Amino acid sequence: MKELKVLLAASEASPFAKTGGLADVAGSLPAALSKLGVDCRLIIPKYKSVYNMRPNTSKVGEFSVNLAGNVYLGEVEEAKIPKTQASVYFIKNDRFFFRDELYQVKGRDYDDNASRFIFFSRAVLEVMKIIQFKPDIIFANDWQTGLIPAYLKSPLYSDDVFYHGIKTVFSIHNLAYQGIFWHLDMPLTGLGWDYFTPEKIEFYGKINLLKAGIVFADQITTVSPTYAREIQTQEMGCGLEGLLAERSNDLVGIVNGIDYETWNPENDKLIQKTYNSGKSAAGKAKNKLSLLEMFGLPIDDRPLIGIVSRLDEQKGIDLLHNALSEIMGQQVKLVILGKGKPEYEEFLAAAAAKHPDKLGVRIEFNEKIAHQIQAGADIFLMPSKVEPCGLNQLYALRYGTIPVVRKTGGLSDTIIDFDPADGSGNGFVFEEYNPLSMIRAIKRVCETYRAPKLWKKLVNNAMEADFSWNSSAQKYKELFEKVRS
Ligand code: ADP
Ligand code: GLC
Repeated sequence: MKELKVLLAASEASPFAKTGGLADVAGSLPAALSKLGVDCRLIIPKYKSVYNMRPNTSKVGEFSVNLAGNVYLGEVEEAKIPKTQASVYFIKNDRFFFRDELYQVKGRDYDDNASRFIFFSRAVLEVMKIIQFKPDIIFANDWQTGLIPAYLKSPLYSDDVFYHGIKTVFSIHNLAYQGIFWHLDMPLTGLGWDYFTPEKIEFYGKINLLKAGIVFADQITTVSPTYAREIQTQEMGCGLEGLLAERSNDLVGIVNGIDYETWNPENDKLIQKTYNSGKSAAGKAKNKLSLLEMFGLPIDDRPLIGIVSRLDEQKGIDLLHNALSEIMGQQVKLVILGKGKPEYEEFLAAAAAKHPDKLGVRIEFNEKIAHQIQAGADIFLMPSKVEPCGLNQLYALRYGTIPVVRKTGGLSDTIIDFDPADGSGNGFVFEEYNPLSMIRAIKRVCETYRAPKLWKKLVNNAMEADFSWNSSAQKYKELFEKVRS
């Protein structure tokens, strides 16, 4: 069969630019697909963080994009994704992308996000000619690239034979972020007003870029089978449930894989002491010690719970707020690394001051501490209200840190409740989104922690679970092949 060619377009990708799990997926899927013989290349904006990394780039060419009568110039550069042979292309336009943050500062979106990501979406299509790469599939991710499927089918590109035969797969990583802009931004898109209808990209009087992707893509994916079902319900569909249900035959959920090289306790350079499943108890004990020291918490062997999270209501921070004094009443300690909504940051900082012996909090985005929490905590808490897939519970498994999760989205597809009777399961799951239900799960995990044989079995189950890209990348490959044909 002819080699499959895929261009993965995303607004962030590790290790170049990251605010969340999309970056982990976009940064590691190309290499996983390459291993399966797919020519998969990545394309992202050239942010300030990319400059800071000093990748070995070479300029391939220049292009221009017309946004509502203003012409913006751009450059495309090529480099290799570290430790792989897969190419990454950077779209350079310093006015749009040379900024400290990716999308917003202090909770406020950049005013020109519509222009920035319309420019990026147009650029992806423009530069394919310059880099001389005509993919079978453009794999577009989230609202920032939602217009790409619409453009390909619009008069802007459909008359040009170069673009004929290219198919689009659009992935929803988080339905809550839709890229909604006021109607007067319509001319920026370059699409006619005939696109501003409820069947196309209009959404309650505004432009909705995620909707554009859902309406026009040949195939839609999301990041777990359960989330694929959830987003078709009124409760979780964020206003797009009707459209998603209409397209349900073209919608499939594939659980994210994780990068087994970056997240590997056996050779992780960011943690205090490396370990493997055979020696996990001793290895984790050293990491726990240094984690407790770092957070200035007393040293003892009580269970240590870790949280690494965006501080957002989706992640269950309000639940944590309501349950915190009860948790602090248990024989446990808690360390939290997070950044996000100012009110949550303030609440956590105040709570840490109130419970200096039991609660450690760091309000920042810090890759190293994220790894150290995975390695040093005994338990990983993820009480999400909504979780399309979730990667942290998968990292936790790999590091032998027992996930306690709420049954939603990808959390329910990856974490199986531990049954002490037969030793099956890899974590603890609670169903109801309320403090009582979460506290019960925390009590259960703590009981198991105090039964060393059971705990050993559970940690072993967690570390033996396979969430590498192997099976998920294969699923993407098969799906792309089906869409191509
Ligand atoms: P989401 O993308 O919704 O935030 P995921 O669980 O898919 O959730 O991915 C989150 C990613 O971001 C993980 O790689 C996690 O380690 C990382 N992360 C989240 N918050 C922080 C933080 N404060 N510091 C470092 N890494 C973080
Ligand atoms: C989103 C989701 C998260 C998912 C990630 C990668 O940010 O919130 O659940 O793991 O995308 O797909």
